[in-house]
Amino acid sequence: MTIPCDIMVFGGTGDLALHKLLPALYHLYREARLHPAVRIIALARSNLPRNQFLKLAERRCRAQIARADFDEDVWARFSARLDYFPMDASQSADFVRLARFLGEAGGLTRIYYLATAPNLFVPIANHLKIAGLADHDARIVLEKPIGHSLESATAINEAFGAVFAESQVFRIDHYLGKETVQNLMALRFANALLEPVWRNNQVDHVQISVCETLGVENRGAYYDRAGATRDMLQNHLLQLLCLVAMEPPAQFEAEAVRDEKVKILKALQPITGQDVQDKTVRGQYSAGKIGGQEVPAYYFEKDVDNDSDTETFVAVEAHINNWRWAGVPFYLRTGKRLAKRSSQIVIQFKPVPHRLFDGDQANQLLIQLQPDERISLQMMTKTPGKGMRLEPVELNLNLAQVFGQTRRWDAYERLLLDVLEGDSTLFMRRDEVEAAWAWIDPILNGWQEHFQAPRPYHAGSNGPDQAHSLLAHQGRAWHL
Ligand code: BG6
Repeated sequence: MTIPCDIMVFGGTGDLALHKLLPALYHLYREARLHPAVRIIALARSNLPRNQFLKLAERRCRAQIARADFDEDVWARFSARLDYFPMDASQSADFVRLARFLGEAGGLTRIYYLATAPNLFVPIANHLKIAGLADHDARIVLEKPIGHSLESATAINEAFGAVFAESQVFRIDHYLGKETVQNLMALRFANALLEPVWRNNQVDHVQISVCETLGVENRGAYYDRAGATRDMLQNHLLQLLCLVAMEPPAQFEAEAVRDEKVKILKALQPITGQDVQDKTVRGQYSAGKIGGQEVPAYYFEKDVDNDSDTETFVAVEAHINNWRWAGVPFYLRTGKRLAKRSSQIVIQFKPVPHRLFDGDQANQLLIQLQPDERISLQMMTKTPGKGMRLEPVELNLNLAQVFGQTRRWDAYERLLLDVLEGDSTLFMRRDEVEAAWAWIDPILNGWQEHFQAPRPYHAGSNGPDQAHSLLAHQGRAWHL
């Protein structure tokens, strides 16, 4: 069981709070990982009475939590710990009311979860301070996106830095809470076998793909301002790249891990000038079919501008300027409304130095995060019978088979528990976020300067043709 605390969720009636955070907190409560006296207080503008909020929370949690895990008694006890406080986070006076509502901290740790628009981050930091709510024990959880550029991210970090110590700030990237993502660290740093081949003399290239079938759902207004680059590439994909490419840390603890990650971000070769056109592809989906269902073009989605040029797909060829990775392309891509949901990392090894057999193919390590958690190594083997006919066969590590079909923790459960335990290993440090923006900004600016409109792709396809050419002209192809 963790510390006695109050958890305040700004954006408490938003999608993230209702769809992810409350179900995660319910699971933690059910497993007795939360203090029984915990208070979870949703903060939002609408003037909802508490019982209406409870009805909304229950409806959304029931829809999200598997039936077998939804225990009526536990829910009754959990919901008694839930509360709702109407306030406008841009108004300083509302924080004074909040302070009165919360009462004396008296040994409780206050956790503020900012699941709200990033333009409210700076006012919230200042108002918490003025209202006397920012004591030394408080913890702040910042949801991505942290800003929309290096400048705005720095302003947010400055504002929180003026009020809280860095150790009190937890910048969340839910990809770091995923089981297979952590397994990637186990795979790399607990298996000496891989280390000698995990470098440019053996690796031809790396692919990191997060492909979604989903569109923008109810988040059109946010997404149309963000686009795939700010929404996914700046954070989730770059975090995955860091874990693939970083050097082994001296200890598995927050500062050591984050020191290594930030070195990778700083070693990323800037994409500027002509490279913006040669090494990046932005796309936007047009109407198409997914799973037999017609879906509209992006610009017809709810709350999206009719002549929007926001990208819903991005692919980039990145390079890391260090000894281990010099010369190895890292191809990153992510997009919405693609043919299938699949998040994966592919380490493509080089072919054997001298070929003895026809038909042999280079080894490939596949780390699949979604939809199934799977790690598999493609090896060449001889087919039975006369003659040396070779075929690639997979050595499979199917985690569901090995560890059984027990309920998998959601990334938010693990990360919320880490916040309660004060462990920031799986959270982004200030310099990481800023280094990521410093690499992304020139790409975004380059697109603007060259009026590089997004390339259309049909919903249900594998993205724009140009994304395929990005690899094809180097004799490579995306792993599908
Ligand atoms: C979020 C993005 O951070 O990650 C969404 O804002 C995206 O646009 C989501 O759909 C993908 O997360 P997951 O865990 O479903 O792969």
